[in-house]
This record gives sequence, C-alpha cells and structure tokens, in this order.
Amino acid sequence: HAQSHVTDVAFPFEGPFGVYDRNQLQRGLQVYTEVCSACHGLKYVPIRTLGDKGGPELPAKQVRAYAANLAPVDDPETGESRDRKASDFFPKSSDPQAPDLSLMAKARKGFSGPYGLGVNQLIHGIGGPEYIYSILTGYTGKTKEQAGKTFYQNRTFPGGWIAMPPPLQKGQVEFADGSPNDVPHMAKDVAAFLMWTAEPKLDSRKKTGFLAVIFLGILATLLYLTNKKLWAPIK
Ligand code: HEM
Repeated sequence: HAQSHVTDVAFPFEGPFGVYDRNQLQRGLQVYTEVCSACHGLKYVPIRTLGDKGGPELPAKQVRAYAANLAPVDDPETGESRDRKASDFFPKSSDPQAPDLSLMAKARKGFSGPYGLGVNQLIHGIGGPEYIYSILTGYTGKTKEQAGKTFYQNRTFPGGWIAMPPPLQKGQVEFADGSPNDVPHMAKDVAAFLMWTAEPKLDSRKKTGFLAVIFLGILATLLYLTNKKLWAPIK
C-alpha cells in the first residue's frame, strides 16, 4: 500500500493553548463557499453556528444573508421548498461522488506510527487538517483515464490517484483582508475551517480543561496541607 505524504502544518488551534483564528476561519469559509461547495456538502453543520463564539463569528445579519444565498431547502414540516434559513443545515453534497466534508478533518489522519505506537500522533496531533491541506497541495499534474473516468495523480491520496480534479488555482479567491491567495494559503485556510466544522467546541473545551487543571491543583494543595495538619499531633 502506497505511503501517503502528509505535510505538517502549524495551525493556530494546535497545542494546549491553541485557539481558532477567526479571520482564518472566515477566509476558509469563503474558499469553501466559492470553490468546494460546487461539489461537496456540509450537511451536519447548522448555518447559525457561523455566528457562534470561537467560530468564524459572522454578525447575525451576515449569517442570515449567507443562509438565504444557499440552495433552497425542503421544509422538514411542510415538505415544501423554501429559502434556507440560519436555523437550517448547510446543503448536502451536490456531486454524489464527493463526500460530505462536515467531519472529514476528524475522519482522516495525517500521522501514525512509528511501529504502530502512535508517537507521531502524540507529537503532531491526528493530522486531519494536515491531510486535507496535503491533498489540496499534493497534485502532480499527471492524469489517467480509467473506466471512462479521469483520475488525478496526488501525492497524499491513498493509492495515488484521486477522482477530484485539482480544486484550487492560484489567485482564485479574493480575500477582503488582502491575505495571500496562492494555493498553499487557500488550502491552509480551508483546512482550518474544516477542522472547525468537525470540532466546533475546541476553544471552550480547552478553556474548561485548563480551569479544571488549575482547580484540581488548588484542591490537591489544600488537601495535602489539611492532611499534614490533621495528622501532625499523632506523629
Ligand atoms: C474528495 C476536499 C473541491 C470533488 C475530497 C476529499 C476531501 C476533499 C478532503 C476526501 C479525500 C479522501 O477521501 O481522503 C475538498 C476541498 C475542496 C474540494 C477542501 C475545495 C477547496 C472539490 C470540487 C469537486 C470535488 C470543486 C468537484 C469538481 C471531489 C470528489 C471526491 C472528493 C469527486 C472523491 C474522490 C475520490 O474518492 O477519488 N475532496 N474538495 N471536490 N472531492 Fe473534493
């Protein structure tokens, strides 16, 4: 089986204190909207979460406008087609061959081993967003025809040939903040956005965990001192 090639990328959300970069998530949303959504869906992501804290944090008005711009939805209660609202989910993949991307950053791994020990995962993380980045930047330019379909050679995709045409071209997306829009930068931004769709509560989970560690530290200190004091006369 072909060894797939995954590049380690430094994302702002990595490490015990890492948090999402709101501007990066907004750029990633833009790449997703303008490029990936032509084929892929995000059917598990509620549109309103685009306004949530720790996410892209779009203002409520922009979230409503974003929803209204998406494909209409069949209302789950009336069964009739109507405009999409912020309380609906993103559309599902329009290309049945293209997998839904909601959880893709958690469904793929970039790092493993050595010798099945998972030491690389401990150091670098699971590597889902790195895998997505590496797929998007891993095209060699070679193609082949098989069973009437075109496949594109890719350094990262297992087996080496993927049915997805290279989706990103240099300069394809214009960012309002003037951020670089070469292929590696757009790939990084959209990979970060897809990490957020797969793990939207990462920031608050880390905060809670950090507070828990501090609290347990204080509790342990107090218990230690209490214990010493209680047993002091008996010694
Ligand atoms: C597969 C991401 C744009 C069609 C995939 C996979 C990812 C991905 C992560 C899964 C690879 C795997 O199974 O390990 C993206 C991103 C895009 C994008 C982030 C935008 C930047 C597109 C577009 C199309 C497309 C525009 C259609 C023209 C497909 C298809 C597959 C696929 C057909 C299945 C490939 C296979 O299993 O051989 N994409 N994609 N994608 N994508 Fe995309």
